[in-house]
Amino acid sequence: MYKKKRILLIITGGIAAYKMPELVRRLRERDIEVTCILTKAGREFVAPLALSAVSGNRVYENLFDLDEDSEMGHIQLSRSADLVVVAPATADMMAKAATGLANDLASTTLLATDTPIMMAPAMNVRMWNHPATQKNVSTLKDRGVVMLGPDEGDMACGEFGFGRMVDPMDIVAAVQDFFTPHRPLSGKKAIVTSGPTHEAIDPVRYIANRSSGKQGHAIAAELAKSGADVTLISGPTSLAVPENVTFIPVESARDMLAACQSNLPADIVVCAAAVADWRVDQEAGQKLKKDGSGTIPALALTENPDILATLSQMTQGRAPLVVGFAAETENVIEHAKAKLARKGCDWILANDVSPSTGTFGGNENSIHFIANNQCEDWPRLTKLEVATRLVERIAQRMKAEDQ
Ligand code: C5P
Repeated sequence: MYKKKRILLIITGGIAAYKMPELVRRLRERDIEVTCILTKAGREFVAPLALSAVSGNRVYENLFDLDEDSEMGHIQLSRSADLVVVAPATADMMAKAATGLANDLASTTLLATDTPIMMAPAMNVRMWNHPATQKNVSTLKDRGVVMLGPDEGDMACGEFGFGRMVDPMDIVAAVQDFFTPHRPLSGKKAIVTSGPTHEAIDPVRYIANRSSGKQGHAIAAELAKSGADVTLISGPTSLAVPENVTFIPVESARDMLAACQSNLPADIVVCAAAVADWRVDQEAGQKLKKDGSGTIPALALTENPDILATLSQMTQGRAPLVVGFAAETENVIEHAKAKLARKGCDWILANDVSPSTGTFGGNENSIHFIANNQCEDWPRLTKLEVATRLVERIAQRMKAEDQ
């Protein structure tokens, strides 16, 4: 018999709490039942009435609201759920959960539950980076808590960095994935390049670019969730290595190409790295010095190998599906179609990276999906949603090839 999935949503005191009625609505649209616990601090950012209206359930706030006869005790409250989601999860709530403190309904429930837990942290970047928080996060992860984010970006407090709660739709995607793990790519091998490359000028200086690696890392994570055996080859980024991927850190374009080649054969190659087109022809063995004469060193550049083109144009052992990206600032579709033809890859995901779009370093992307000289415009999506959509397409293509 079909049984509705049930979530216990614990809302703690972060500004992102105001987004929770929207999250509840999106979950209910997917036929998921939601019951909310709201902490005292959470109540400052979202009204219990809004949550009870959208969830269709009573909102629990106080340990002593729960009398055994008419209501569930806190143990029942968590046990009757298939999944506990803490969003936003404050540094305080994570510290309580990590140390086993139980002094309100939310923390008592977290201590009493043996139901799987997901947390979507949200806090100021300094609080997130603080060793105490990082230790709590790793303690919770070791105990099996799944952390969603946080994302990097502008914060309500005016600072920039990691600490923004992930988009509510990313929480929905993680919840759906939890309930119906879908492994259409099991048995397939994938190579993903991500991040920038660093091209040394001398032992201390390098040429780089603004790529955050978010899109490539998200694709690697989604491919792994779909069951693929993923090797993520990335230039330097500040991102965590996604779960269940083999990670190969590299610096230069040449290292990246060599790592790709030594991991072939593969069924799928996705080149999402922002590879430097040029490197310094003669890397200096010692730090270049000002000599006081006012002479400025001339940096002669030489072209880097094109990884996407090299892997697309292999005459033997080419991966059946090679996917590239095209970051453009003008005539996006026209340039991307020409790039696909020139490099010889199968698909190109083109995006407009003009500064006004906020794509570089941001969390969203507007993609034009180009295959067989046809262009399909995707709506503006989070980078995680782009990854999900791309991996769905990859799975369809692999299924068609296997038939
Ligand atoms: O030529 P352009 O850099 O615009 O091409 C972008 C695509 O090519 C991306 O998929 C990028 O990962 C890939 N690329 C590469 N090696 C290079 C330059 C770009 O793999 N040297």
